This record gives sequence, structure tokens and C-alpha cells, in this order.
Amino acid sequence: MIDTAKAVADLAWLVEIGADEAINDQPTDWTQVASRRAPTAREAGPARSPASAPPAAAPGRSATPPEKKSPALATAPALGGADAPPGSPLGMTEARASARGAAMAATTLEDLHKALLAFDGCPLKQTASSTVFADGNPKARVMLIGEAPGEQEDRQGKPFVGPAGALLDKMLAAIGLDRHAEEPDKAVYISNILPWRPPGNRNPTDSEIAACLPFIQRHVEIADPDILVFLGGISAKTLLAKTEGITRLRGRWFDYGSPGLTRPLPALALLHPAYLLRNPGAKRETWRDLLSLREKLRGLPPRP
Ligand code: URA
Repeated sequence: MIDTAKAVADLAWLVEIGADEAINDQPTDWTQVASRRAPTAREAGPARSPASAPPAAAPGRSATPPEKKSPALATAPALGGADAPPGSPLGMTEARASARGAAMAATTLEDLHKALLAFDGCPLKQTASSTVFADGNPKARVMLIGEAPGEQEDRQGKPFVGPAGALLDKMLAAIGLDRHAEEPDKAVYISNILPWRPPGNRNPTDSEIAACLPFIQRHVEIADPDILVFLGGISAKTLLAKTEGITRLRGRWFDYGSPGLTRPLPALALLHPAYLLRNPGAKRETWRDLLSLREKLRGLPPRP
């Protein structure tokens, strides 16, 4: 006999902790599986891998403390290793090779978008509603890179359109930038490390990041901005190949290099807007970082 009230309460609890996506048709009692033996990564499925359990309760995964150990290049061997992204039809090596081949073949943003839509090496695609490619003005001198789409972004198919996006727009407006501006000096172009929403907004795993990394690297090369801004620790650590946390990386200028760029790009890391929503006290240092971005932008030579 099903206790309906309890079932509804259990479902509400799952939604509250962020487990709002069904991964398989049939439920699996992982406590039983775990007691017999540890599941392989593939058996464990995307929402059950160690890095993904439990799902984050917050609407923005980056609202977790910025020093929380995140994956990315800090654990480089996992990125190049043979482990398959859980749930991926491809092994890790194959997934990366396939991503690299598809991304490198693209010479325009349109090509790259199509290549991403055709790419099946990241299991996050299976649970996401949209492939979130980019928003803003692709001719902008500043390109911002966040972590991964959240619920609103997944619904609307554009990056930073939820609460964190609303704060981001205000932060940009405070230094005279607007994602929809036509003038490249006043506009920004926005994308994410991952184009697919991790279920329940959990943190992406190393292997998911590794599988998608060639696309964002190529994205930067093709967009060819003059300044890069990393929003949050996962973006900064992944693209700068750093192990330090975001509180150490933020506010500093780095050189970002990539084989397809004609010169290294000045790159700045900021605290993630979702983190700022939860920690308004950190807005003061972000304001300083935004002023530094404005200075750098003002100091750029005019584009030929
Ligand atoms: N957080 C991100 O990092 N990216 C988005 O697109 C939305 C929220």
C-alpha cells in the first residue's frame, strides 16, 4: 500500500536537494549495490558518481564556498586518463579525441555550435534539455566563461539567464558593459565550460569537464576576444590549469594561451555571481575586480 503523503513528501525532499532529474527509467538501490561491491563508473551513472553525490541543494552550484575543492585540471591525470565519463558511450580517451577532432575542424562559431550539437561524448547531454552555446555579442572585446547552465539556462538555451545572470548583468552594467550592446567595446560574449546542465546543478565531474574542454578552448580561439573573464573557480582553474582556489585566483591577471590564438590573452578570474548572491559581503572585492577589468579594457589599443 503506497503512502501517498509520504511519497509526495519524499519527492519534495528530492527536489529540494536538487535531485530533480530522472536518470534511468528504473530506480537502483545504490546502498545495496555499494554493500556488495563498489559500482564501476559506468554502472554508477552520471548522478551517482562520487563527485556527484549528493547533488547540490542550491540553484547555482557555484554558490558553494569558493575554496570548495573542485575538479578541473587540478587533477590532471583524470582528465587524460582512460576512465569513461559515467554514462558516456565513449571511453574518456575516445571522448576527448572526438571532442578535439570536432572542435578543431570548426572554423566559425556556427560550425562549432553544430559540432557541439552532434557530439555525444559527454553524458550530461542525455539529461539536459538544451545545448547552451553562448549569448551576447560574438564581436565583443570581452569574453566571459562560466561553469555550466543551471535550470533557467537549460530551459531557455542561453547562459546566465537565471538569478546569477541577473546579478551578472548588473555587475557588467556597473562598468558600462552590456551583453546586447552592438559596439564591441561595450559588449560582452558569454559561454560556459560545459554546455549541458549537470542534473540537479551538481558540480561537474573531471571527466565531464575533460570531455567538453576542447570545445570551449576552440570557442575562445574562434571568438578571439581581447580579454577573457573566468566566472568562478571551475572556469578559472580549468582554463588556467591552476590548482589554487578561486579566492586566490580572483582579481589577478593571467596570460591565457592557446595554439589557435595569435597572442596570449589577458585573463581575469572573478567570484561567481551565484556565490555573490549567497555571500553579498564578497561583492566589495568583486567591485575592485570589476574596476580592474574596466581599466584593462580602457587601456587596450583600438582594434584594427
Ligand atoms: N552559472 C554558470 O556558471 N553558468 C550559467 O550559464 C548559469 C549559471
